[in-house]
Amino acid sequence: MTVKLFVNARCFTPIDPGRPLSGNDQGMIREIPRSAILTQDGRILQIGPEPEVLEAVRHLSPDQEIDCGGHCVIPGFVDPHTHLCFHGLRESEFSMRLEGIPYLEILRRGGGILSSVKRVRAATEEELFKSTQQLAQSALAHGTTTIEIKSGYGLETQAELKMLRVIDRVGRQSPLDVVPTFMGAHAIPEEFAGDSEGFVEMIIHEMLPEVATQGIARFCDVFCEEGVFSIAQSRRILEAARALGFGIKIHADEVHDLGGAGLAASVGALSAEHLLAASDEGLKAMAAAGTIAVLLPATAYSLGKPFARGREMIRLGVPVALATDCNPGSCFCESIPFVFGLAVLGMKLSPEEALTATTLNAAYAVGQAKSCGSLEPGKKADFLILEGQTPAILAYHAGGSPVKAVYKGAERVV
Ligand code: NIG
Ligand code: FE
Repeated sequence: MTVKLFVNARCFTPIDPGRPLSGNDQGMIREIPRSAILTQDGRILQIGPEPEVLEAVRHLSPDQEIDCGGHCVIPGFVDPHTHLCFHGLRESEFSMRLEGIPYLEILRRGGGILSSVKRVRAATEEELFKSTQQLAQSALAHGTTTIEIKSGYGLETQAELKMLRVIDRVGRQSPLDVVPTFMGAHAIPEEFAGDSEGFVEMIIHEMLPEVATQGIARFCDVFCEEGVFSIAQSRRILEAARALGFGIKIHADEVHDLGGAGLAASVGALSAEHLLAASDEGLKAMAAAGTIAVLLPATAYSLGKPFARGREMIRLGVPVALATDCNPGSCFCESIPFVFGLAVLGMKLSPEEALTATTLNAAYAVGQAKSCGSLEPGKKADFLILEGQTPAILAYHAGGSPVKAVYKGAERVV
């Protein structure tokens, strides 16, 4: 048994009511100006004003006492949407986009996601592991302690299973907690060009059952978009996934408003992601269903598009989470502090709302809120020591590295 005592911390945390925070509650953060955190075997035993915790600790004699220097302490970030299992960058496509060629046009010409598919299919499992592990370590250094990683650059059964094994191994061989998502419905592979229905059949009848048997993926996600998967196709895939026990998520209304937000609400998806073009009607349906909006402002920034309407979503009562979307195409960014800054300055979330969005609501968006997302007894002792006195430093220090230390299960990992 290892007992640790963290003192002289200025803690900021959302309080978990057993569901994601929405509306006015999204910005409700508990601040404990001079606090202490007592941990046992990597979990929080007690957190509160220093004198209270010190009183409780009198009979426990901690193995270690750590002084947080009066700095701001917040829960470790949860990044609930990434594609960081890939092999090789796509810098030439970035140049094409700078010249004005749209993201979906590059995909239509056989590039985009499909160029990463070629690289991932050709990579050995070891090569893919190395590149994924490297990026995951960088995410950790930016304060991410729990991360979702999607497959979706295999688009054939064996390559998708390979990706999921790699994603699972990153979870076992790094300090990060990893949540694997199957995203075979990420694009139509070359072999099925002009036959998206054939590919949907293959996903439903071959890939999904094999992925379920493999037992690694916890969620299934679909890229519902013009020229990719239609509303009807997305619905069929997600319903089949749900019947096999997967949680479901949707890349919805990223470029065009196909009605992805409404679909997410009507199929009972845990979350709908992107939502740059989502309609009021779709957002209202999400609020009524309790669907979490996972917003990806670094993607809007990288694509040069207006941000999703985060402020409006909070007003409508949609619980908002934030994620990087880290991928080699639309958004090569593994930094939650950068996303936090964009959300505050670009989408007009308050720093408190953005804190909930990058911790507790993000933990709900990947089904992990029982063990992380807030600093409360019973949860993992995953937390960050920041430069400065309040979480606003994350937006204020633009492009800086305000994360000074990362603790995962009460162990210092950065
Ligand atoms: O969320 N939109 C679809 N998927 C990713 C991009 C993947 C890629 O371009 O490689 C996204 O933006
Ligand atoms: Fe994505």
